[in-house]
Amino acid sequence: MSNPPLAGRRALVTGASRGIGRAIALGLADAGADVAILARGTEALDAVAAEIKERGRDAVALTCDVTDPDRLTEAFGEAVEGLGGLDIVVNNAGGFFHSGPFLSLTDGDWERTRGLNLDPTVRLLRLAGTHLTANGGGSVLNVTSVAGLGGAPRLALYALCKAALVSLTQTLAVEWARDGVRINAVAPGWIDTELTGGFTGVPAVKQALQNEVPQDRWGTPEDVVDAAVYLSGDGARMVTGAVLVLDGGLTSQLSSVARDLLHLGRLAA
Ligand SMILES: NC(=O)c1ccc[n+]([C@@H]2O[C@H](COP(=O)([O-])OP(=O)(O)OC[C@H]3O[C@@H](n4cnc5c(N)ncnc54)[C@H](OP(=O)(O)O)[C@@H]3O)[C@@H](O)[C@H]2O)c1
Repeated sequence: MSNPPLAGRRALVTGASRGIGRAIALGLADAGADVAILARGTEALDAVAAEIKERGRDAVALTCDVTDPDRLTEAFGEAVEGLGGLDIVVNNAGGFFHSGPFLSLTDGDWERTRGLNLDPTVRLLRLAGTHLTANGGGSVLNVTSVAGLGGAPRLALYALCKAALVSLTQTLAVEWARDGVRINAVAPGWIDTELTGGFTGVPAVKQALQNEVPQDRWGTPEDVVDAAVYLSGDGARMVTGAVLVLDGGLTSQLSSVARDLLHLGRLAA
Protein backbone atom coordinates (compact mmCIF):
# COMPACT_ATOMS: atom_id res chain seq x y z
CA MET A 1 0.00 0.00 0.00
CA SER A 2 1.35 3.47 -0.86
CA ASN A 3 2.10 6.00 1.85
CA PRO A 4 -0.70 8.45 2.72
CA PRO A 5 -0.05 11.84 1.05
CA LEU A 6 1.05 13.68 4.19
CA ALA A 7 3.04 10.86 5.86
CA GLY A 8 5.85 12.31 7.96
CA ARG A 9 4.51 15.87 7.79
CA ARG A 10 3.89 17.98 10.87
CA ALA A 11 1.01 20.43 10.87
CA LEU A 12 -0.37 23.22 13.06
CA VAL A 13 -4.07 24.08 12.78
CA THR A 14 -5.48 27.11 14.60
CA GLY A 15 -9.12 27.16 15.70
CA ALA A 16 -9.07 23.38 15.66
CA SER A 17 -11.35 22.57 18.60
CA ARG A 18 -14.53 22.48 16.48
CA GLY A 19 -16.02 23.32 13.10
CA ILE A 20 -13.86 23.68 10.01
CA GLY A 21 -10.56 23.67 11.92
CA ARG A 22 -11.36 20.41 13.70
CA ALA A 23 -12.37 18.77 10.43
CA ILE A 24 -9.15 19.92 8.74
CA ALA A 25 -7.02 18.72 11.67
CA LEU A 26 -8.62 15.26 11.53
CA GLY A 27 -8.33 15.23 7.72
CA LEU A 28 -4.62 16.03 7.88
CA ALA A 29 -4.18 13.23 10.45
CA ASP A 30 -6.10 10.82 8.18
CA ALA A 31 -3.66 11.84 5.43
CA GLY A 32 -0.72 10.84 7.65
CA ALA A 33 0.31 14.08 9.37
CA ASP A 34 1.03 14.64 13.04
CA VAL A 35 -1.00 17.63 14.16
CA ALA A 36 -0.73 20.43 16.72
CA ILE A 37 -4.14 21.92 17.42
CA LEU A 38 -4.72 25.35 18.91
CA ALA A 39 -7.79 27.05 20.42
CA ARG A 40 -8.95 28.56 23.72
CA GLY A 41 -11.08 25.67 24.99
CA THR A 42 -8.82 23.06 26.59
CA GLU A 43 -11.48 20.36 27.01
CA ALA A 44 -12.62 20.47 23.40
CA LEU A 45 -8.99 20.49 22.25
CA ASP A 46 -8.21 17.43 24.34
CA ALA A 47 -11.13 15.61 22.71
CA VAL A 48 -9.80 16.43 19.23
CA ALA A 49 -6.28 15.41 20.29
CA ALA A 50 -7.70 12.04 21.35
CA GLU A 51 -9.37 11.65 17.93
CA ILE A 52 -6.03 12.38 16.22
CA LYS A 53 -4.25 9.82 18.40
CA GLU A 54 -6.96 7.24 17.59
CA ARG A 55 -5.77 7.66 14.00
CA GLY A 56 -2.27 6.64 15.05
CA ARG A 57 -0.82 10.14 14.74
CA ASP A 58 0.87 12.42 17.28
CA ALA A 59 -1.19 15.30 18.63
CA VAL A 60 -0.15 18.40 20.56
CA ALA A 61 -2.97 20.41 22.16
CA LEU A 62 -2.20 24.10 22.64
CA THR A 63 -4.52 26.21 24.75
CA CYS A 64 -4.10 29.67 23.29
CA ASP A 65 -6.12 32.79 22.60
CA VAL A 66 -4.78 34.03 19.26
CA THR A 67 -5.59 37.60 20.27
CA ASP A 68 -2.78 37.37 22.86
CA PRO A 69 0.34 37.95 20.73
CA ASP A 70 2.84 36.70 23.29
CA ARG A 71 0.90 33.49 23.93
CA LEU A 72 0.50 32.92 20.17
CA THR A 73 4.26 33.23 19.67
CA GLU A 74 4.88 30.89 22.60
CA ALA A 75 2.30 28.35 21.35
CA PHE A 76 3.85 28.36 17.87
CA GLY A 77 7.18 27.45 19.51
CA GLU A 78 5.48 24.69 21.50
CA ALA A 79 4.03 23.26 18.28
CA VAL A 80 7.49 23.17 16.67
CA GLU A 81 9.02 21.62 19.78
CA GLY A 82 6.20 19.16 20.41
CA LEU A 83 6.17 17.80 16.86
CA GLY A 84 9.92 18.09 16.26
CA GLY A 85 9.42 20.63 13.46
CA LEU A 86 6.62 22.01 11.31
CA ASP A 87 5.83 21.61 7.59
CA ILE A 88 2.21 22.76 7.34
CA VAL A 89 0.44 25.72 8.97
CA VAL A 90 -3.31 26.16 8.68
CA ASN A 91 -4.50 29.63 9.69
CA ASN A 92 -8.15 28.93 10.44
CA ALA A 93 -9.14 30.69 13.70
CA GLY A 94 -11.47 33.57 12.89
CA GLY A 95 -15.05 34.69 12.78
CA PHE A 96 -17.51 37.50 13.28
CA PHE A 97 -19.26 38.71 16.39
CA HIS A 98 -22.49 40.00 14.93
CA SER A 99 -23.99 40.91 11.61
CA GLY A 100 -25.31 44.39 10.91
CA PRO A 101 -25.23 47.36 8.55
CA PHE A 102 -21.91 49.21 8.20
CA LEU A 103 -23.37 52.44 9.58
CA SER A 104 -24.42 50.72 12.80
CA LEU A 105 -20.89 49.55 13.59
CA THR A 106 -18.80 50.98 16.41
CA ASP A 107 -15.06 51.43 16.93
CA GLY A 108 -15.24 48.47 19.31
CA ASP A 109 -16.69 46.25 16.58
CA TRP A 110 -13.74 47.05 14.32
CA GLU A 111 -11.20 46.45 17.08
CA ARG A 112 -12.72 43.09 17.98
CA THR A 113 -13.08 41.95 14.39
CA ARG A 114 -9.55 42.87 13.33
CA GLY A 115 -8.26 41.69 16.73
CA LEU A 116 -9.45 38.16 15.92
CA ASN A 117 -9.08 38.01 12.14
CA LEU A 118 -6.25 40.33 11.13
CA ASP A 119 -3.67 40.94 13.85
CA PRO A 120 -3.19 37.26 14.82
CA THR A 121 -3.05 36.36 11.13
CA VAL A 122 -0.20 38.77 10.47
CA ARG A 123 1.67 37.43 13.51
CA LEU A 124 1.04 33.78 12.66
CA LEU A 125 2.11 34.25 9.04
CA ARG A 126 5.31 35.95 10.19
CA LEU A 127 6.03 33.05 12.55
CA ALA A 128 5.17 30.47 9.91
CA GLY A 129 7.14 32.19 7.15
CA THR A 130 10.20 32.62 9.36
CA HIS A 131 10.16 28.96 10.38
CA LEU A 132 9.35 27.45 6.99
CA THR A 133 11.72 29.58 4.90
CA ALA A 134 14.55 28.74 7.31
CA ASN A 135 13.78 25.01 7.31
CA GLY A 136 13.56 24.01 3.68
CA GLY A 137 10.00 25.06 2.88
CA GLY A 138 6.47 23.91 3.54
CA SER A 139 2.87 24.87 3.04
CA VAL A 140 0.57 27.50 4.55
CA LEU A 141 -3.19 27.41 4.15
CA ASN A 142 -5.38 30.40 5.00
CA VAL A 143 -9.08 29.94 5.64
CA THR A 144 -10.68 32.99 4.08
CA SER A 145 -14.33 33.24 2.97
CA VAL A 146 -16.48 34.05 -0.02
CA ALA A 147 -17.30 37.14 2.06
CA GLY A 148 -13.80 38.36 1.17
CA LEU A 149 -14.33 37.94 -2.58
CA GLY A 150 -17.12 40.44 -3.16
CA GLY A 151 -19.76 42.52 -1.47
CA ALA A 152 -20.90 41.08 1.85
CA PRO A 153 -23.67 43.27 3.24
CA ARG A 154 -24.06 43.14 7.06
CA LEU A 155 -20.62 41.53 7.37
CA ALA A 156 -18.48 44.46 6.17
CA LEU A 157 -15.66 44.32 8.73
CA TYR A 158 -15.36 40.53 8.63
CA ALA A 159 -15.37 40.65 4.82
CA LEU A 160 -12.66 43.31 4.87
CA CYS A 161 -10.44 41.06 7.02
CA LYS A 162 -11.07 38.06 4.76
CA ALA A 163 -10.28 40.14 1.65
CA ALA A 164 -7.02 41.19 3.33
CA LEU A 165 -6.23 37.52 3.80
CA VAL A 166 -6.65 36.92 0.07
CA SER A 167 -4.24 39.80 -0.58
CA LEU A 168 -1.69 38.41 1.89
CA THR A 169 -1.99 34.94 0.35
CA GLN A 170 -1.07 36.32 -3.06
CA THR A 171 1.70 38.63 -1.85
CA LEU A 172 3.40 36.02 0.30
CA ALA A 173 3.12 33.39 -2.44
CA VAL A 174 5.40 35.62 -4.50
CA GLU A 175 7.73 36.57 -1.64
CA TRP A 176 8.22 33.00 -0.43
CA ALA A 177 8.19 31.05 -3.70
CA ARG A 178 11.97 30.82 -4.02
CA ASP A 179 12.24 29.53 -0.45
CA GLY A 180 10.02 26.53 -1.19
CA VAL A 181 7.06 27.83 0.79
CA ARG A 182 3.65 27.61 -0.86
CA ILE A 183 0.74 29.59 0.54
CA ASN A 184 -2.84 29.14 -0.59
CA ALA A 185 -6.35 29.80 0.67
CA VAL A 186 -9.71 28.11 0.79
CA ALA A 187 -12.80 30.32 0.58
CA PRO A 188 -15.83 28.45 1.92
CA GLY A 189 -19.39 29.63 1.38
CA TRP A 190 -22.09 28.82 3.94
CA ILE A 191 -20.87 26.07 6.26
CA ASP A 192 -23.03 24.79 9.10
CA THR A 193 -20.94 25.42 12.25
CA GLU A 194 -21.27 27.17 15.59
CA LEU A 195 -20.16 30.40 13.86
CA THR A 196 -23.20 30.39 11.59
CA GLY A 197 -25.56 29.18 14.33
CA GLY A 198 -27.22 32.59 14.46
CA PHE A 199 -28.39 31.98 10.88
CA THR A 200 -29.06 28.23 10.94
CA GLY A 201 -30.92 28.60 14.24
CA VAL A 202 -33.73 30.47 12.50
CA PRO A 203 -35.29 28.05 9.98
CA ALA A 204 -36.54 30.82 7.65
CA VAL A 205 -33.10 32.44 7.54
CA LYS A 206 -31.36 29.11 7.09
CA GLN A 207 -33.64 28.26 4.15
CA ALA A 208 -33.39 31.74 2.59
CA LEU A 209 -29.58 31.54 2.56
CA GLN A 210 -29.71 28.02 1.19
CA ASN A 211 -32.01 29.19 -1.61
CA GLU A 212 -29.16 31.40 -2.90
CA VAL A 213 -26.84 28.40 -3.27
CA PRO A 214 -27.12 26.68 -6.67
CA GLN A 215 -26.38 23.30 -5.05
CA ASP A 216 -29.31 24.04 -2.73
CA ARG A 217 -27.55 23.01 0.47
CA TRP A 218 -25.42 24.17 3.39
CA GLY A 219 -21.86 22.90 3.45
CA THR A 220 -20.41 20.84 6.28
CA PRO A 221 -16.92 21.24 7.78
CA GLU A 222 -16.02 17.95 6.08
CA ASP A 223 -16.68 19.58 2.68
CA VAL A 224 -13.51 21.64 3.21
CA VAL A 225 -11.20 18.76 4.15
CA ASP A 226 -10.12 17.31 0.79
CA ALA A 227 -9.22 20.78 -0.51
CA ALA A 228 -7.11 21.44 2.60
CA VAL A 229 -5.30 18.11 2.30
CA TYR A 230 -4.68 18.65 -1.40
CA LEU A 231 -3.35 22.20 -1.02
CA SER A 232 -1.12 21.12 1.90
CA GLY A 233 0.49 18.22 0.03
CA ASP A 234 2.87 17.57 -2.85
CA GLY A 235 -0.02 17.06 -5.28
CA ALA A 236 -0.29 20.86 -5.20
CA ARG A 237 3.49 21.38 -5.60
CA MET A 238 3.01 24.03 -8.31
CA VAL A 239 0.00 25.68 -6.66
CA THR A 240 0.75 28.83 -4.71
CA GLY A 241 -1.23 32.05 -4.29
CA ALA A 242 -4.44 30.20 -5.18
CA VAL A 243 -7.83 30.75 -3.59
CA LEU A 244 -9.99 27.65 -3.89
CA VAL A 245 -13.67 28.51 -3.59
CA LEU A 246 -15.91 25.90 -1.94
CA ASP A 247 -19.38 27.42 -2.07
CA GLY A 248 -21.78 25.18 -3.99
CA GLY A 249 -21.82 27.75 -6.80
CA LEU A 250 -22.84 30.72 -4.64
CA THR A 251 -20.30 33.18 -6.07
CA SER A 252 -20.75 31.90 -9.62
CA GLN A 253 -24.17 33.52 -9.78
CA LEU A 254 -23.15 36.83 -11.26
CA SER A 255 -26.22 38.85 -10.48
CA SER A 256 -29.76 38.91 -9.23
CA VAL A 257 -30.75 38.52 -12.88
CA ALA A 258 -28.99 35.16 -12.91
CA ARG A 259 -30.84 34.22 -9.73
CA ASP A 260 -34.16 35.30 -11.17
CA LEU A 261 -33.55 33.19 -14.27
CA LEU A 262 -32.67 30.23 -12.06
CA HIS A 263 -35.87 30.60 -10.03
CA LEU A 264 -37.83 30.98 -13.28
CA GLY A 265 -36.34 27.72 -14.51
CA ARG A 266 -37.33 25.97 -11.28
CA LEU A 267 -40.86 27.37 -11.50
CA ALA A 268 -41.21 26.24 -15.10
CA ALA A 269 -39.92 22.71 -14.33
N1 LIG B 1 -18.87 28.65 8.89
C1 LIG B 1 -18.85 29.29 7.73
O1 LIG B 1 -19.87 29.44 7.03
C2 LIG B 1 -17.55 29.87 7.23
C3 LIG B 1 -17.50 30.29 5.90
C4 LIG B 1 -16.32 30.82 5.41
C5 LIG B 1 -15.22 30.93 6.22
N2 LIG B 1 -15.27 30.53 7.51
C6 LIG B 1 -14.07 30.69 8.33
O2 LIG B 1 -13.65 29.41 8.76
C7 LIG B 1 -12.94 29.54 9.99
C8 LIG B 1 -13.55 28.57 11.01
O3 LIG B 1 -14.91 28.90 11.16
P1 LIG B 1 -15.96 27.91 11.79
O4 LIG B 1 -17.22 28.14 11.08
O5 LIG B 1 -15.41 26.55 11.91
O6 LIG B 1 -16.11 28.58 13.26
P2 LIG B 1 -16.40 27.94 14.68
O7 LIG B 1 -17.20 26.73 14.59
O8 LIG B 1 -16.86 29.09 15.51
O9 LIG B 1 -14.94 27.51 15.19
C9 LIG B 1 -13.98 28.49 15.44
C10 LIG B 1 -12.73 27.85 16.00
O10 LIG B 1 -11.78 28.88 16.29
C11 LIG B 1 -11.46 28.88 17.69
N3 LIG B 1 -11.29 30.26 18.14
C12 LIG B 1 -12.21 31.25 18.16
N4 LIG B 1 -11.69 32.36 18.69
C13 LIG B 1 -10.41 32.05 19.03
C14 LIG B 1 -9.36 32.76 19.64
N5 LIG B 1 -9.52 34.03 20.04
N6 LIG B 1 -8.19 32.14 19.86
C15 LIG B 1 -8.02 30.86 19.48
N7 LIG B 1 -8.96 30.13 18.88
C16 LIG B 1 -10.15 30.72 18.67
C17 LIG B 1 -12.65 28.18 18.36
O11 LIG B 1 -12.30 27.53 19.57
P3 LIG B 1 -12.38 28.26 21.01
O12 LIG B 1 -13.70 28.96 21.08
O13 LIG B 1 -12.23 27.15 21.98
O14 LIG B 1 -11.21 29.20 21.07
C18 LIG B 1 -12.97 27.12 17.31
O15 LIG B 1 -12.08 26.04 17.41
C19 LIG B 1 -13.05 31.01 10.39
O16 LIG B 1 -11.87 31.70 9.98
C20 LIG B 1 -14.23 31.49 9.58
O17 LIG B 1 -14.16 32.87 9.34
C21 LIG B 1 -16.41 30.00 8.04
